[in-house]
Amino acid sequence: MYRTKTCGELRIANVGEEVTLAGWVQRIRKMGGMTFIDLRDRYGITQLVFNDERADLCEQANRLGREFVIQVTGRVEERSSKNAKMETGDVEILVERLSVLNSAITPPFTIEDNTDGGDDLRMKYRYLDLRRTAVRKNLELRHRMAFEVRRYLSDHGFLEVETPVLVNSTPEGARDFVVPSRMNPGQFYALPQSPQTLKQLLMVSGFDRYFQIVKCFRDEDLRADRQPEFTQIDCEMSFVEQEDILEMFEGMSRHLFKEIKGIDLPELPRMTWADAMKYYGSDKPDTRFGMLFVELMDVLKGYGFGVFDNAAYIGGICAKGAAHYSRKQIDQLTDFVKKPQIGAKGLVYARVESDGSVKSSVDKFYTQDVLQKMKSAFDAEPGDLILILSGDDAMKTRKQLCELRLEMGTQLGLRDKSKYSCLWVIDFPMYEWSDEEQRLMAMHHPFTSPKPEDIPLLDTDPASVRANAYDMVINGVEVGGGSIRIHDAQLQQKIFEILGFTPEQAQQKFGFLMNAFKYGAPPHGGLAYGLDRFVSLFAELDSIRDCIAFPKNNQGRDVMLGAPGVIDDIQLDELQIRVDLKEK
Ligand code: AMO
Repeated sequence: MYRTKTCGELRIANVGEEVTLAGWVQRIRKMGGMTFIDLRDRYGITQLVFNDERADLCEQANRLGREFVIQVTGRVEERSSKNAKMETGDVEILVERLSVLNSAITPPFTIEDNTDGGDDLRMKYRYLDLRRTAVRKNLELRHRMAFEVRRYLSDHGFLEVETPVLVNSTPEGARDFVVPSRMNPGQFYALPQSPQTLKQLLMVSGFDRYFQIVKCFRDEDLRADRQPEFTQIDCEMSFVEQEDILEMFEGMSRHLFKEIKGIDLPELPRMTWADAMKYYGSDKPDTRFGMLFVELMDVLKGYGFGVFDNAAYIGGICAKGAAHYSRKQIDQLTDFVKKPQIGAKGLVYARVESDGSVKSSVDKFYTQDVLQKMKSAFDAEPGDLILILSGDDAMKTRKQLCELRLEMGTQLGLRDKSKYSCLWVIDFPMYEWSDEEQRLMAMHHPFTSPKPEDIPLLDTDPASVRANAYDMVINGVEVGGGSIRIHDAQLQQKIFEILGFTPEQAQQKFGFLMNAFKYGAPPHGGLAYGLDRFVSLFAELDSIRDCIAFPKNNQGRDVMLGAPGVIDDIQLDELQIRVDLKEK
């Protein structure tokens, strides 16, 4: 037996027992004739003591290095100086036998919570990074969440069904990762961006309630909350309306919050997409704090300030108690909104003074009367700071104001990661205009059903049609999204037409689904959560990377594996793609 106990379980009640432990050497300290070693495994750290009564053992211990793998046998003793910060801090092992199971070269960074290793180095040696408690805890949390998801869904009659990874292009709007087929030269599989069409086919098959914790692949620009391969909790249900789905999955979120965080989630508020854009400039509003947008077109237009007079949108936020912001701080905010990623032209500000008067950066255009009207529009009080943006594209300006709001929320400490604010955003538009493609694109995906009352608008004003689509948003992060699907082949055909597919193109791409619908498709709908995002919210992380065992970096590379990498000529020949590449 390599061990009788783990490094995390010994307590004062074990004093006097003889135990065998195995693990990694975290730290060695020599004090006088004694040597102390912190021995670590997945479960915790236990202090080992080698004393001068056994000089031979002590000498052996002194020759160990960090991260050596050892096995020790000894007696559990009560510590004279206890360490309340460690779960095993009341005891130590007086070692009687030591064997080195493996030596280790010095790791490139310290395996401690506060490591000295930078991001790149830690990613290159991810297997060492994963030895760190902080990272390991995230994966343990991920396991528990996945487990609770399975428990909840299974208890509610959902079946976990695996769908293939080698499929055809799936229409989630990102680029596909493709895999060449050796047996079908010149042809390619695509990795699924989601199992969307397959889960709908499972509904046609009568599975009724499906789920899968499943890898999805999207070749898109990476951000803190995006990875090229990520995991969805993918779900679909038959014979349901939107309300049934919202209820079922609100229940799942409630179950997770309760079981994992011990939080009783209140009933989730619902916000229409239109309101989310109007008040937060985002379809994933961070509702942990207020600072809602106030539109000022009626208040500030027409007083000779050209920037506002020519604007399609003027709106602002009121930062409570921030009138103390210095000129320098406001200049920094101006630089922030002018960053190319945000793209505002400038920032107008106004302070509400202690006597209630308003002092603004555009005082020469506005009388105190007008400024007071503006103050009332915000319900602003002495000590508040009003920040205003304007622009000739209302939607773009709202998005800029959203960035400013989030920045102010951060600066004022209103975005506490341990506080959770969840909601449903509903009534998304069916379509959004793509400047790049010069056509309407499906906002969710082309299988999303329009709201029945908006179906007549498909012919007259498709851009204004609302979808039976919904997202779950937590702390400004879209954790999940889905829709009621179209289950009628004719309506599906029409939607494809509006999206610019000819009937032949639609048949070629999605014929399998439309044909399936002809064999009796039940009304159905579903949603998918991003597991990585859900876990990172619960773990209070800045990036989903830290809850993924082997993530990709921002260039989509796995620097540890060296992937992607070149493949050799023999493989290229077998796949018959080398010639083509060279010709290009
Ligand atoms: P959607 O595209 O909204 O919907 O994806 C569902 C959820 O998956 C997560 N997600 C991601 N997480 C990490 N990295 C990414 N690159 C990434 N992309 C998406 C998000 C998102 O809410 N088939 C539909 C679902 C449905 O209609 O049932 C779909 O895939 O948390």
